[in-house]
Amino acid sequence: MALMATSLVPASLSIPKQGKSSVFLRETILFGVSLSHTNKSDFNSYALRSKRELQQKIGAVRAQTAATATPAITRVAPEGKKTLRKGSVVVTGASSGLGLAAAKALAETGKWHVIMACRDFLKTERAAKSAGIAKENYTIMHLDLASLDSVRQFVNNFRQSGRPLDVLVCNAAVYLPTAREPTFTADGYELSVGTNHLGHFLLSRLLLEDLNKSDYPSRRMIIVGSITGNTNTLAGNVPPKANLGDLRGLAGGLNGLNTSSMIDGGNFDGAKAYKDSKICNMLTMQEFHRRYHEETGITFASLYPGCIATTGLFREHIPLFRILFPPFQKYITKGFVSEDEAGERLAQVVSDPSLTKSGVYWSWNKNSASFENQLSQEASDEAKARKVWEISEKLVGLA
Ligand SMILES: NC(=O)c1ccc[n+]([C@@H]2O[C@H](COP(=O)([O-])OP(=O)(O)OC[C@H]3O[C@@H](n4cnc5c(N)ncnc54)[C@H](OP(=O)(O)O)[C@@H]3O)[C@@H](O)[C@H]2O)c1
Repeated sequence: MALMATSLVPASLSIPKQGKSSVFLRETILFGVSLSHTNKSDFNSYALRSKRELQQKIGAVRAQTAATATPAITRVAPEGKKTLRKGSVVVTGASSGLGLAAAKALAETGKWHVIMACRDFLKTERAAKSAGIAKENYTIMHLDLASLDSVRQFVNNFRQSGRPLDVLVCNAAVYLPTAREPTFTADGYELSVGTNHLGHFLLSRLLLEDLNKSDYPSRRMIIVGSITGNTNTLAGNVPPKANLGDLRGLAGGLNGLNTSSMIDGGNFDGAKAYKDSKICNMLTMQEFHRRYHEETGITFASLYPGCIATTGLFREHIPLFRILFPPFQKYITKGFVSEDEAGERLAQVVSDPSLTKSGVYWSWNKNSASFENQLSQEASDEAKARKVWEISEKLVGLA
């Protein structure tokens, strides 16, 4: 089907490479296939350990940059019957697209308080309002993943808020397919890998401790992946293909000065940098699983939510691509997934009791059913995952 899609890209879009249309052609079928619908979860009743703990938690709550009420707390009814407390989920990049749709889907269940971890407070506030998320169901906290200081500050602020952390969703990303030159994070790393992988790597490493302290029945860490990083798919074979090589660029610090800005040490290519960052996301999830699942019981998972052709992810793409990509995915590849649908899928991975298996990369088939997808050889390479982990630890100052 995707092959058919490639051949159906109108020839009139084939503007010479000097323009940005080659990027259009390379990327048009990148974002794949499949549709679904999901069930929302319903956790069993759950309680905090004691009334004293409850009081301590309430006392500890200090409003951050937020617009919300106090956290919902589990109570033990006088007769000893347990009642549910709201789950507390941090979603990075919840100001638009998938993150916003998932925040909305989770908030609407009434069972989740969403911490929207975003770099633009006003944009996020407006987005939450226009999505109709009730004030008491979200808190906005500042997080700029392109700055490791900001990541650390976010973790401190989150801890000071006194909220528990039950689920962490690493969702934010930048995609710079038309960039001719690399740009860099505050710490000097190429922006796509620096934001999508290194920022999230530090965040998830630091917040593991908080997840581990949570007394919620099913604690999860979710790192959003992509079909584009998986070369075992047709979409993943559209050039430029993801490839981390021997990691020499990553090991050199991705600074574009004395080393390459690309993980594999090659010349800068913005589309490839995004795909490489997505492999890192999927490798990181598996490495977390291998290192910590047995010991902590935390579920580590990744997913490909489908091709959500309307999101802000494509904001840096050429205008023609942005106009034609959604109908192309809708009517030709039939891989289009609406933001609402994708948000439901991510919400399912956050809370559905049937998706507690750890180490899984979830996808959805045309019958709207979730299934455990196969990662490409590189995206499931254990030795590479370990190496990415070890180098990343050094780059973010953990080793
Ligand atoms: N769209 C698709 O077809 C598709 C397919 C597969 C996977 N995905 C994945 O889905 C996830 C969400 O993407 P999307 O499509 O929803 O794109 P999107 O609408 O552009 O959302 C990206 C989010 O990331 C945030 N962000 C970017 N840089 C950040 C930074 N330095 N610090 C904090 N937040 C930052 C953005 O914040 P601002 O609002 O401030 O810019 C925005 O909230 C990504 O991981 C992407 O790889 C998307």
